[in-house]
Amino acid sequence: MIRLAKVGKSFAGRTLPLLDGVDLTIASGETWGLIGPGASGKSVVLKLICGLLQPDVGAVTVADLAVSGASEDALMAVRARIGMLFQNNALFDFMTIGDNVAFPLQREGTLPEAEIRQRVAEKLRAVGLVGSEEKFPNQLSGGMRKRAALARAVIARPPILIYDEPTAGLDPVTTSKIYDLLRAERDQTGATVIAVSSDVDALRQFAPRMGMLYQGKLRYDGSTANIADSDDAVVRQFVSGALEGPL
Ligand SMILES: Nc1ncnc2c1ncn2[C@@H]1O[C@H](COP(=O)(O)OP(=O)(O)OP(=O)(O)O)[C@@H](O)[C@H]1O
Ligand SMILES: [Mg+2]
Repeated sequence: MIRLAKVGKSFAGRTLPLLDGVDLTIASGETWGLIGPGASGKSVVLKLICGLLQPDVGAVTVADLAVSGASEDALMAVRARIGMLFQNNALFDFMTIGDNVAFPLQREGTLPEAEIRQRVAEKLRAVGLVGSEEKFPNQLSGGMRKRAALARAVIARPPILIYDEPTAGLDPVTTSKIYDLLRAERDQTGATVIAVSSDVDALRQFAPRMGMLYQGKLRYDGSTANIADSDDAVVRQFVSGALEGPL
């Protein structure tokens, strides 16, 4: 479903490449969790998958569509298959919450407006934001904005869901509720899911397979059940959060 082949990415002002030969294949229906230190390139990997960034070398494909090197029109077709929750939420500040959440359905243009509004109300209820349709993003708390952005990411039932830090800055109870929503959404749709989180423990409960990005490489990619017992001391230390170790 999603493939990165020998992907490299550098940004000006860095001596080492941010990503240096990343290979990744995610099958349809799989849930993959991505962890790694701050600024290791986790968000960049997600942006490469939706074609918001282009790799310097290597290839990215999504559902057999080329993402790397694709035209803007071709990228629209890729993005129509992806629901993305950005790390900064990326709600449109000038639109109400209702219009933000309705946006993916309106872009599809297949449902009548009354049906769209009904679905928006249902989804806002599901994320605990009943009656927030007329509010603007700056009138909501950070956690509420995160939940509104989540509603927008999933409302059109895209086959691929990408979540960048879905619970950052949220209290533990809200975090559990968000993961319940992510699970319900996945189980109802069978979507392929990629989730990045700094909350390694919560992500381990959610993703049966995990990758760890470190110094440009996927230092680990495999079963979540085995990650804490990895042969690699860097991976073990990162997952356990121990102060002593190579990191
Ligand atoms: N568009 C860009 N232009 C220039 N540099 C960029 C761009 N996007 C990312 N970077 C740089 O690449 C590095 C990795 O960024 P990225 O956002 O992928 O990290 P991350 O692993 O998601 O970190 P965090 O855990 O803090 O979210 C950072 O040093 C960042 O400044
Ligand atoms: Mg990030």
